[in-house]
Amino acid sequence: MQIAKKLSEIREILSDLEKNNSKINLIPTMGNIHEGHLSLLKEANKFEGINVVSVFINPTQFNDIKDFENYPNTFDQDVNLLSKNNCEIIFAPNIHEMYPNGLETKKTIFEYRDILCDAFRPGHFDGVTTVVNLLLDIIKPSNVFFGEKDFQQLKIVEKLIIQNKLKANLVKCSSIRGLNGMSLSSRYTKLSMKEKTQFDKCAQIIDKNLLDLINSFDIKILENIKKELQSIGISTIDYCEVREESNLEISKTNIHSRLFVAFYVNKIRIIDNFVLY
Ligand code: PAF
Repeated sequence: MQIAKKLSEIREILSDLEKNNSKINLIPTMGNIHEGHLSLLKEANKFEGINVVSVFINPTQFNDIKDFENYPNTFDQDVNLLSKNNCEIIFAPNIHEMYPNGLETKKTIFEYRDILCDAFRPGHFDGVTTVVNLLLDIIKPSNVFFGEKDFQQLKIVEKLIIQNKLKANLVKCSSIRGLNGMSLSSRYTKLSMKEKTQFDKCAQIIDKNLLDLINSFDIKILENIKKELQSIGISTIDYCEVREESNLEISKTNIHSRLFVAFYVNKIRIIDNFVLY
């Protein structure tokens, strides 16, 4: 496994690969590699090509500087895990390599905006599309792998690829869930034992109501979820909504729809979505 920290290094490696007509599979990450990321690598193994994992905690997608500073940075552990899981190249640039002209972002995608996470994290998706655009431009992958946990991100990246006529094929990968039924996330390593217990209780509430939503859809169930979460001390619920997968519009049925939730366990933001059909 090779590790490239500089643009010049990754360019050299990629130019050698190009000479052999090798295809590239890119898995963009912010590190703190867990089973969710490894499932993207497993998916990449089904495609011809060299697996490149980018590890870059992108400052421009954090709308809160404290959130950025507290984001788990476990690079040595990540290298060890990736080396055992069919990752051939790690691209781990520093901020200056990625943003030589300063931390600028551009709003280029206007679809799927002002709803869900975009309504609560202004600028977040502009940071995501800026860095994904940079990564796709540098690596020029044939396939790029994204998880469905961040479903709105997936839709926005899909739009970015179409709008900018990028050549990468977007491979959408199902969420990998923990024992409590919630999708894995790097942020959850920061939960204390007490917060983990509260998180598990939240997961139980969602799970029970999810079954009701799937069996006999009723919009009132969303109010139940919110009330039950509040009753166990969850004071900030950003959203709890059912939306259509295709356009992220509010849905009044469970057909081709998902339940989308975002709330805080103390200071940790939890987001997830669940298929309702
Ligand atoms: O989903 C993530 O981890 C990040 O948003 C991504 C796509 C790596 C961009 O920084």
